[in-house]
Amino acid sequence: MTSLYGILGHPLGHTLSPAMQNAVFTSVGIDAAYLPLAISPDRIRKGLAGLKTAGFAGFNVTVPYKETVIPFLDRIDPSARAVGAVNTVVISRKTGQWIGHNTDVFGFQMLLRRARIRPAGKSVLLIGAGGAAKAVCVAMLPTVKSIQIVNRTPERARRLQISFPEKFRKKITRGNFRSLSASLPDQSFDIIVNSTSVGLKKGARLPVSDGRLKSAEAAIDLIYNPPVTDFLRRAKKSGCRTANGLDMLLYQGARAFELWIGRAAPVAVMRRALLRSLL
Ligand code: ATR
Repeated sequence: MTSLYGILGHPLGHTLSPAMQNAVFTSVGIDAAYLPLAISPDRIRKGLAGLKTAGFAGFNVTVPYKETVIPFLDRIDPSARAVGAVNTVVISRKTGQWIGHNTDVFGFQMLLRRARIRPAGKSVLLIGAGGAAKAVCVAMLPTVKSIQIVNRTPERARRLQISFPEKFRKKITRGNFRSLSASLPDQSFDIIVNSTSVGLKKGARLPVSDGRLKSAEAAIDLIYNPPVTDFLRRAKKSGCRTANGLDMLLYQGARAFELWIGRAAPVAVMRRALLRSLL
């Protein structure tokens, strides 16, 4: 019988996960299908119950359900507990239990490793304070010197800061989103990370001055489509080492595959599928 997997979110128009996971299932000869599960917020309770009765073997979770799904789980893995958000649910074949994991942090760590960006002891400017920003913080806080979070909505940055235990909270400061565009940085940062959606649309410009980029050594944009946002283009021009979000997407998916199937993910196959669907 075909095993069912999927990605739960709303809206889901842009998701590349089905192309990536279906390519792997085909390449390793597993009888499984990975479906987009676009369920609107007013139907999410019924939708989740439906996944149970339909006999799904596992699924990914994306915006806006990474926290919503938690009360429906039987168990939460430490990876998800650390972030307070679940992006991968494993459904036990034996017991039917739902176990929540978070593979986004691993995805971001792999992005750093592949881009040869080493955050230990560094000062970081993190733009954005949503779900992706939380995964970035969890991945970086243990080793960085400091993280300054700036967000359009300051209250969300405050909530992100206070969600961490004291030893990490004290490494975090909060800045002003608007003043990011000031051409003379009053404070410079080693690594600048954009976790907002600004840049998804052509011509959208993140308010980070070229001066600030010149004083940084690396810039990361979690956006992968377009592969080079205005922010990354300017960062490159300013001499920064740069990385987009493709590796984070790839490795969170590879880890999810490993959790579901119990064997190593053919990452090269997944990368090719992603690049093909981005053409
Ligand atoms: P994700 O899981 O991708 O992080 P999210 O939790 O919805 O998604 O967070 C989106 C982030 O992008 C937030 O930091 C959001 O800022 P607000 O908290 O002020 O909403 C940011 N963002 C989205 N659109 C933006 C825009 N036009 N200008 C500035 N920030 C924006």
